[in-house]
Parts: sequence; C-alpha cells; structure tokens
Amino acid sequence: MRNFTCVHDIGPLSEALAKARYVKENPFADAELGRNKTLLMVFFNSSLRTRLSTQKAGLNLGMNVIVLDINHGAWKLETERGVVMDGDKTEHILEAIPVMGSYRDIIGVRSFANFESKEDDYNEVILNQFIKYSGKPVFSMEAATRHPLQSFADLITIEEYKKTAKPKIVLTWAPHPKSLPQAVSNSFAEWINQTGYELVITHPEGYELDPRFVGNARVEYDQDKALAGADFVYAKNWSAYKDPNYGKVINMDRSWTVTTEKMALTNNAYFMHCLPVRRNMIVSDDVIESPQSIVIPEAANRVVSAQTVLKEILLGLK
Ligand code: CP
Repeated sequence: MRNFTCVHDIGPLSEALAKARYVKENPFADAELGRNKTLLMVFFNSSLRTRLSTQKAGLNLGMNVIVLDINHGAWKLETERGVVMDGDKTEHILEAIPVMGSYRDIIGVRSFANFESKEDDYNEVILNQFIKYSGKPVFSMEAATRHPLQSFADLITIEEYKKTAKPKIVLTWAPHPKSLPQAVSNSFAEWINQTGYELVITHPEGYELDPRFVGNARVEYDQDKALAGADFVYAKNWSAYKDPNYGKVINMDRSWTVTTEKMALTNNAYFMHCLPVRRNMIVSDDVIESPQSIVIPEAANRVVSAQTVLKEILLGLK
C-alpha cells in the first residue's frame, strides 16, 4: 500500500482485520521495520487522539516522528494557484509540500472541510496536493470527506464486541452547536457498507449525507424506529451536505440526544462515538458512563488502526 485515504486502499477487510489483530497482540514485533524512517504528521486542525495514537503507532514501529501544526508556528499557507500573494499568507503550499516531502519517508495529513467550497472539499484538494507534490506515501489523519483511521478503529472495535455474525449498526445524527464536517459519518458508512452488516442511518430531514457514502444503508428519519433492535449505536453530529445548506447547522433538535431512554429501545446496544464528544448534546452523561459505552476502547484502537496502516506502507517502501 502506498497511500491510505479510504477503505478501498486497505485491501480485503477480513485480511486487514486479521493484520490489525496481530498488531494488537504483538505491538512491538515490528520495532525494526521503521528504523531510520521518518514519519511527518501535518495538522491543519486540532487533534488529541489522532496526534497521540499515530505518534505512538510510529514509535512502536521504530520510526522517528515529527509533528507540524500548520497554524501554530509555521508560515501561513496559500493553497490557491494563481493568487497574487500580497496578503497575510507567506508561503505557497506548492513549495511547502515538496519541502516537507524532502524531510520524511511517510506523511500523515489532517485537513478538514472548510465549507468555503463544497467542490474543493469533496475533491479533497489539500490531501490530493500532498499526494501529488510530496513524492512520498501519504495517509489521511482525517481529510475533508473521510476519516479512515477512525473508521478502521471503529470496525476493529465492533469486531471485538459483536455478539452476532451480522450485527445491526445504527449511525445516528445528534445535535451540536457548531458546523462539523461529514467526514466521520461518511467514512463510517463507507467502511460498514463493506462488511455486509445491517447499517441504518438516522437523522432529521435536511441532513442527508452524500449518497456515494450512504450506499445501500437504510435511511430512517424516525430515530426511535432506527434504534429498535440495534446492536451498536454510533452517534455523530454532522452539518448539512445538501445545497443550499452545505456546511450549515439547520437544527439542533435536542430530542435526538442519545439518552438512556433511547438506548432502552435497542438490543442492549453498545454506544460508540469517535470523540471528542459534547456531553448532554450528543449523548447523556448516563449513557457515556454506562457499561455499554465503548468509547474508550474504541479510542484505544486508534493506535492499532494507525500501526496496521503504517506497517503496510512501510512494507511497501521495501
Ligand atoms: N477521533 C479523533 O480523530 O479525535 P481527534 O480529533 O482528537 O484526533
């Protein structure tokens, strides 16, 4: 594998999950694989889990790790070609990327949707510039439309906790005061759709996701109906995808918060969320603190997904 930006890059899911199990059981078995190799992690946006788990994954593989926060200490970057750079942006991304590429062997990029242009967001302009101009393998640490390291960790977690061969998984929208990208939800749907598990996506009208990610999942506008019999409840907020409201919060209906009453509709489901989570907006204190909440093991599996992906990229360098 050279680049990792979506589920299709990882190969057959059964094999990827077997590799992840091996990594989890043998975290230091490949400590020589990354010797004298440098991982550069470039963040255009904030992070706790991705930053720490990916760094830990690189260290477990024996890599040197460098972290760059573009917005804290680097020059402000221009990303559009043809712009007269007479404003506050000092460096063009078309020089910055190959320079970064010259310092490392593998580059991780976090670059969220900025909602200025749906076309640019959904064409993954920043991530694809890294792939095109860095000359090095690139992996997504959450881009505009997907968060594949999170989705891989989510699936690893579901495999660990599922009690039936084909669990019912419900992805539910939940309220949030700010505009959030659709990336986690798109990506989760894309990965679960590859498993053949039952996926139901529930949200208020107006929050329909890009049909390319929804795939064959059932869309249900009644959250209670969707939750009935669920084995896993995956809560996430996202802003509107559909025009003319792209990137906007069109309602904050608190009746969609995942509460104990909502969880009582399920098949004693496990509660999942990628974190960070706003308590009592997305999920009640009681639910996230309950024994059915698996948000901490889910976050811990971020090391496993990152290490499995980095290992595959390192093997591809040989
Ligand atoms: N889930 C996730 O990606 O967390 P961070 O934004 O803290 O990295």
